[in-house]
Amino acid sequence: MKKHIFNAGPCKLSDRTIQNTSKAVIELENCGQSIMEVSHRSKDFQKVIDEAVELFKEVLNIPEGYSVLFLGGGASMQFCMIPYNFLKSKALYLNTGTWSTNALKEAKLWGEVIEVSSEDKNFTYIPKGFDIPNDLDYVHITTNNTIKGTEILEDMDVNVPLFADMSSDILSRPVDVSKYAMIYGGAQKNMGPAGVTFVIIKDNLLEKVVDRPIPTMLKYKTHMDKGSMFNTPPCVNIFAVRETLLWVKEMGGLEAMDKLAQKRADMLYNAIDNSKMFVGTVAKEDRSRMNICFVMNEQYKDKEAEFVAFAASRNIIGIKGHRSVGGFRASTYNACTIEDVEALVKAMKDFEATNA
Ligand SMILES: Cc1ncc(COP(=O)(O)O)c(C=O)c1O
Repeated sequence: MKKHIFNAGPCKLSDRTIQNTSKAVIELENCGQSIMEVSHRSKDFQKVIDEAVELFKEVLNIPEGYSVLFLGGGASMQFCMIPYNFLKSKALYLNTGTWSTNALKEAKLWGEVIEVSSEDKNFTYIPKGFDIPNDLDYVHITTNNTIKGTEILEDMDVNVPLFADMSSDILSRPVDVSKYAMIYGGAQKNMGPAGVTFVIIKDNLLEKVVDRPIPTMLKYKTHMDKGSMFNTPPCVNIFAVRETLLWVKEMGGLEAMDKLAQKRADMLYNAIDNSKMFVGTVAKEDRSRMNICFVMNEQYKDKEAEFVAFAASRNIIGIKGHRSVGGFRASTYNACTIEDVEALVKAMKDFEATNA
């Protein structure tokens, strides 16, 4: 029996993604070769990557004037590529947790960083109403904080180029892409398996590339000029991304994903808020719909490990919180079903009934 998977990434994927990728590993669409064997320069693979790019543009409603790239290196490579290419003098980083901290560390290698942070309260909220000077090269945000469990659900209006790490909430809601100069992330939550990075970049951003020597592989222009194929791309992963995008489309697109995300999150936060035993860890108005973080009340703290084991006995896995937060984190990405969430809510209620 398939488990109720609440892993933070890699995480649960759609059945379509897994089944069709398995079939392509045996044979890619009657071409007599596995997706692992086919040349990335062949027409068979070109069709796969072209369709993945087109589907991403369609599903996310990406306007004209943007390029879509599928690269290696993870979101972490983008933390370095962004300032390497675009930080001439000064950028603002909204520091809302571990991943944005990592991103801004890289930026400090190249210029001045204005840091607006929620570290004063252990990243349990999203800073708001801060000043954005006009002379910045860019603003960088992390829309969903996978570890701390906060999320920015509205597309921000800023008067300088806006760069967003959307690793853990891409495809969970409609996004006004025109408000961003770049959106990027590791695919391993809502897009597909680990090993491929998506980048949506505004074409005319290339005019702002800083005049400094940049290694070929770290230049966006290299990858844009070669349609993500300057070097060998992660072919299997790109196939799986295409299948995931087809699944999102079949399910009703981002409006449907948005409704489901809200429903899953409401179910879990209601269970937490109506419990004597469990308590949420972040400001209610900034709660993530993708990573629901909670702990046990002080008086029950010694029962946390017991609850993880209890949940596991019901085939519920991946709910142990990140070591920097403790407690629990249920990651409810797109492929997480209402039945998965019902199983977790029932486990929380049953555990509380016998232990509180
Ligand atoms: C929001 C966010 N940004 C960046 C990363 C790092 O991604 P990668 O492992 O692809 O470098 C993660 C990983 O979980 C993440 O959740």
